Amino acid sequence: RRPVILDVDTGNDDAVAVTMAATHPAIELLGCTTVAGNLSLEETTDNTLRVLNAIDRSDIEVHAGLSRPFAPRPYASSASEVEGVFHQSTLPVGTSGLQPRSWHGVEWLIETLRQTTRQVTLIPVAPLTNIAAAITVAPDILDAIDEVVFMGGASTFGNRTAAAEFNVYTDAVAANVVLRAGIRRLTMAALDATHEVLVSQDDLHRYRALGTRAGDVASAVTEYYIGGYKASVGPIEAGSSAPPHDALCVAYAIDPKVLDITEAYVEVDTVSLCNYGRTTVDFHGYRDEPANVRFAKHADSARFHQILDECLRGGTVR
Ligand code: BDR
Ligand code: CA
Repeated sequence: RRPVILDVDTGNDDAVAVTMAATHPAIELLGCTTVAGNLSLEETTDNTLRVLNAIDRSDIEVHAGLSRPFAPRPYASSASEVEGVFHQSTLPVGTSGLQPRSWHGVEWLIETLRQTTRQVTLIPVAPLTNIAAAITVAPDILDAIDEVVFMGGASTFGNRTAAAEFNVYTDAVAANVVLRAGIRRLTMAALDATHEVLVSQDDLHRYRALGTRAGDVASAVTEYYIGGYKASVGPIEAGSSAPPHDALCVAYAIDPKVLDITEAYVEVDTVSLCNYGRTTVDFHGYRDEPANVRFAKHADSARFHQILDECLRGGTVR
């Protein structure tokens, strides 16, 4: 089984990612760290605990990390701005008021990676604040990381601004740290790939019919997600379907064939106003820099749905 740590800002699509990582037999979920992003740190932590509780996996450790990005204001998004774009708040699942194992997520991440004798996969599907902090404080942890698979950026257009994707925009400084950290395998599931996979109303009915807790959670959060996904976010038609961005990273950890990868040099704009947070993907070597990223150009939608169904059939029955 592949040992994995998920870093989340749950979040609707994060909730599906957590559910998948907690149910698929190919993954050993060592724990989740939470970060501010879609919502405040308290809310993303509470949502993550709710999801694990709803699928009967409260045994999985949750550690709350950092509550604000490194990126300076006025560029960083606030939770209330995001609410307007992605319509994310308390998820309609589980019990609220559960407590995380600690509020020291970055320290837990460092200690866990220092103590393990295994090669761990990190899956950050949120602003990269926790990961940048951990790598900066303890660069030695890179030795224990087999691969970082992150959801963020785009080689085309953004979804937070015309130029920038939400996770990278929200903490472009942290994204810059991670891109330059010298991570051996840094796999980037950007909007290019995540917009190729959609979940629709039909999928929700199928999930519900599975009779598992995981199916119920995926169905409830995705219904809520589809309902709130705005037409202004990329090329997605509002109300009918939505891209479960973060879930694609977990699907890749289960079956790498779900992403079509090309090596490239990627950098993030942390300076300009109109392009702030844009990830420039140098496919053709204009900058003459060595590739730092395994960039997912495309996703295999049919394969993604197979993997997701496999996950949702697992775990506790209703
Ligand atoms: C990313 O932004 C967040 O709102 C989603 O959870 C996902 O991680 C998509 O751009
Ligand atoms: Ca997310």
